[in-house]
Amino acid sequence: MNGLDVGVYGLGVMGEAFALNLESRGLTVAVYNRTAEKTTQFLQGKAKGKRIQGFTDLKEFVDSLSRPRMIVLFVKAGKPVDEVVETLTHMLEKGDIIIDCGNSHYRDSDRRFAELSGRGIRFLGVGVSGGEEGALKGPSMMFGGDFSAYIEAENKIGRAAAVFENSKCVSYFGEGGAGHFVKIVHNGIEYAIMQAIAEVYDYLLRGVGLSSGEVGSVFEEWGKGVLRSFLLEAAARVLRYIDPETGKPLVELILDEAEQKGTGRWAVEAAMELGVSAPTIAAAVDERTLTTLRTLRRPAQEAGFNGDRNVGEAVEAAKNSLLATTLLSYIQGISLLQAGARNYGFRVSEALRVWRAGCIIRSRIVEELYKELSWTPGEPTAVAFDKIIPQLEELMPQWLQFITNASRMRIPTPASMSALSYYLSLRSDRLPANLIQGIRDYFGGHMFKRVDREGYFHSDWGRSSE
Ligand SMILES: NC(=O)c1ccc[n+]([C@@H]2O[C@H](COP(=O)([O-])OP(=O)(O)OC[C@H]3O[C@@H](n4cnc5c(N)ncnc54)[C@H](OP(=O)(O)O)[C@@H]3O)[C@@H](O)[C@H]2O)c1
Repeated sequence: MNGLDVGVYGLGVMGEAFALNLESRGLTVAVYNRTAEKTTQFLQGKAKGKRIQGFTDLKEFVDSLSRPRMIVLFVKAGKPVDEVVETLTHMLEKGDIIIDCGNSHYRDSDRRFAELSGRGIRFLGVGVSGGEEGALKGPSMMFGGDFSAYIEAENKIGRAAAVFENSKCVSYFGEGGAGHFVKIVHNGIEYAIMQAIAEVYDYLLRGVGLSSGEVGSVFEEWGKGVLRSFLLEAAARVLRYIDPETGKPLVELILDEAEQKGTGRWAVEAAMELGVSAPTIAAAVDERTLTTLRTLRRPAQEAGFNGDRNVGEAVEAAKNSLLATTLLSYIQGISLLQAGARNYGFRVSEALRVWRAGCIIRSRIVEELYKELSWTPGEPTAVAFDKIIPQLEELMPQWLQFITNASRMRIPTPASMSALSYYLSLRSDRLPANLIQGIRDYFGGHMFKRVDREGYFHSDWGRSSE
């Protein structure tokens, strides 16, 4: 008897949707979940009548699969993945494939890949983006790990991926945690853009005096042009949705404390470790933390709409600032990818290719940056940055106007401000790091380089003559 094509372990939001997606692509699917009731519910509900077989016994689940077995994990990242992998490994044979599709840290995937390779099990760490709808209809998939396993997996679970202009949003980024590294960068960019959108919403609502629904309509309009993106479309829908129970915009009933699962922080940590500047991603993570610091928040009197008297102008300024901040969030992500590519050996443009559909940061900007990076030779960050400089120069007056007016009205814009300082720093011929080097040498003898001579130098800064 032939076994089932793929096993899905973990029937949370993502696992269920992905199992249904695989089945819709012609695959037979075995499913298992730690809590057996979920499996039963799934089989009697969404999976009813489909070529999906459920198991409450793990050994039977494993035995039901065709060889080499391919098991996809959609379980909570961290220790649960280690526990599940350890249990499964005792039931698998050499050459079988474990595919972790959760949001695992790339270093965990590096470790799991090395450990499992030593035990003859082929491991893949896959960044899957698109949320529940993506998992069901076609996510973007970033693979890392065993290459031979990737070839087999691409042919099976790769069928579930999103497609952009006949090109599947699936790619292999290298061994170990390469795929999860790319996913972490994706999530870092996602954090930055969401924060930038939220800042513009805050300005238009509290500063300019539009209603939530009106801001939603403004976003919908912007989404028809250069700012077209899934995240802006999502924001527009959230802002315009009326809670059927209260008749109020639901967004206004949501507590203003942002939660996070850690991938944004991991992106910032990776940037710091790899010596990459990603201030807008960092500002977004930081601001989420700040929103939870209730006991430190001491509301001051709001200054009101006195900067921009003209609503049309204010809206236009906000739009241009959002465009500038979004562009620079992608640049920071690309520079992080570039640093990761040195370790894992992937092409940066490949990440943009698979981000064109299915994922949360899909946008017109990604499509344009992909074209630029795939055609133009050179260092990817520099190529992308050179492409957007003329646009940013044009946006500058209104970008500044947005930030200044928002600040005057006491509306915080940390992501927009960080993007502006990032840009101003990158466009400065000379930065004040000379003074920093001087002070470091003054108190710590750390030495400095000079602009007029080769080598490192130390000064006593006049102490000997005092
Ligand atoms: N939700 C999204 O939009 C999204 C998008 C991309 C990636 N992801 C990632 O995909 C993975 C799954 O996410 P999710 O949103 O579907 O649900 P989740 O809440 O992150 O995970 C739930 C699943 O993990 C299982 N689980 C937890 N601890 C376990 C353990 N110690 N041993 C075995 N199973 C365990 C749960 O089983 P029980 O039912 O028994 O508790 C359940 O099946 C996560 O890594 C998540 O970060 C999520």
